[in-house]
Amino acid sequence: MMHKPRSWFRFFAFLPFVAALLALTPATAAPPAPHAAQVVAPTFGPSAVASGQADEPVRAASGMVVSENWRASEVGMEVLKAGGNAVDAAIATGFALAVVHPSAGNIGGGGFMVIRFPDGNATTIDFREKAPLAASPDMWLDESGKYSAQIQHHTLKSVGVPGTVAGFDKAHRLYGSMNWSRLVYPAVALAQDGFPISERQARSFEGVVRRMTEYPSTVAQFSRDGEPYQEGDTLRQPDLGKTLNLIMLNGRDGFYRGETARLIAEEMKRGGGLITEADLELYRAEERRPIRGTYRGYEVISMPPPSSGGVGVVTMLNMLEGYDLESMGHNTAPYIHFLAEAMRRAYRDRAEYLADVDFVDVPVHWLTSKDHAADLRADIDPNHASKSAPSDVATGHESPETTHFSVVDENGMAVSVTYTLEQGYGVGDVVPGAGFLLNNEMGDFNAGPGLTDENGLIGTAPNLARPEQRMLSSMTPTIVAKDGRLFAVVGSPGGRTIINTVLQVILNLVDFHMNIQQAVDAPRVHHQWLPDVLRIEENGTSEATVKQLEAMGYTVSMRGTQGVANCIMIDPSTGDRLGAADHRNPDGGARGY
Ligand code: GLY
Repeated sequence: MMHKPRSWFRFFAFLPFVAALLALTPATAAPPAPHAAQVVAPTFGPSAVASGQADEPVRAASGMVVSENWRASEVGMEVLKAGGNAVDAAIATGFALAVVHPSAGNIGGGGFMVIRFPDGNATTIDFREKAPLAASPDMWLDESGKYSAQIQHHTLKSVGVPGTVAGFDKAHRLYGSMNWSRLVYPAVALAQDGFPISERQARSFEGVVRRMTEYPSTVAQFSRDGEPYQEGDTLRQPDLGKTLNLIMLNGRDGFYRGETARLIAEEMKRGGGLITEADLELYRAEERRPIRGTYRGYEVISMPPPSSGGVGVVTMLNMLEGYDLESMGHNTAPYIHFLAEAMRRAYRDRAEYLADVDFVDVPVHWLTSKDHAADLRADIDPNHASKSAPSDVATGHESPETTHFSVVDENGMAVSVTYTLEQGYGVGDVVPGAGFLLNNEMGDFNAGPGLTDENGLIGTAPNLARPEQRMLSSMTPTIVAKDGRLFAVVGSPGGRTIINTVLQVILNLVDFHMNIQQAVDAPRVHHQWLPDVLRIEENGTSEATVKQLEAMGYTVSMRGTQGVANCIMIDPSTGDRLGAADHRNPDGGARGY
């Protein structure tokens, strides 16, 4: 599995960047020469596709990048065009998103990368954040010994040791082919030269300025002297550009050592956080074996624990394989019923078994086996909803703010990345002088030993905060293959809904033969065992269907949207790459060549 497809150093493709880099004085964070920025500067604005007008996916013969921001997709596509492979493009896209999609794109958070090589081998990189050395299972109790959601989610104690830079560094060392500087440089340029913000971003930054007053560095970064930006204004982030420049010049040491590490540790000390320079020095990303499953002849490759996503999606597909979903019709009451029952059971497993495998024995093989799915299926009543039992385990808080991007290169190498700051803009603190937001990922740990209650707190042992443990995640970057050939690259943000969003995109492709854009845009449903509520997207199904579901025993809630799936499918007849940016997000973009 640990496969190493290295291509020859692409000297000629790199030449323009040699010129650009000569303009940078090492370690001085000099702004990139303006002409160098043009190498990756957007050549056209959000197209009809990016702004949500097209019904068809974007088609390209060679390479494709789809992300939540069209500028970042273009950065990745330019890397592919210059001869980089899918891992190179994913790294460049990820760094660019940290600049142009700051609510979830990040260097101060963490995530997962799933890679499938053209020969069918696959691997994953786990760069989930870790608890600092000073963490403990009861660290969310206040002075009176009561659990405090405020401490767990909204203080600097909620910051996990960031993993993104180490993850990209590891992926690059193992599987990248281009020079590291070439991959980070576009993000440096975007941070320092700035970019015009969209209407959506203007509204989002306005909210940041209102909410984040306790962090003056955050208000300064996302406003003009406290005045909200308007659509079309240029957002420049010079401190972020300086930090990215250090990462460009020094690799992971540009983040985990020296100036950046010192600034993080100082901010922690100032604000009562726990992360020290020793925590940063200790952090390592891990290569892990992917979860593999099958569904109606398709191979599903996804992320293992500390993600609950791969196990969850394979368990649900195994259960659903026992039904003829196509004949039920898409989003009909019977179809939604079987989906919800599969979801209910998989999420119960999630609560009971899943956590960081470096600390807890997780029975992954059993959970993802066809036998286990058959047992779970056995008590599904075709006509009635089951009941979730709150006495077992309950839900925790998870935010819908995360981001996913997909990449396929000209050789068929595929990369699926989901990464996050946990909530939108993480804990809301831009590290003073370093220009990047800190996560609040410690909120994905359980509340404390024995604290499970009917209101949704969870206190089971496996996912308690312990020094260096990684918190459980729902992020589900996934790749699907058929007959040994790449079929689709799938993923989404959305907190606990992520696993169900990925499941439904796969079902839409396999059972309902939708094209990838339709599969991504189709209305979605969500059930997570507890609370025992079936959520359906606003306008996601008819009133008559809701009535049928209620008659079966469901409590139905119709509201909002679910996830932003940015996916790629391979046209089986031509091999073309078909990119679909989810129309739920107007800033996204599929870019191919
Ligand atoms: N913080 C969202 C997740 O990891 O699932």
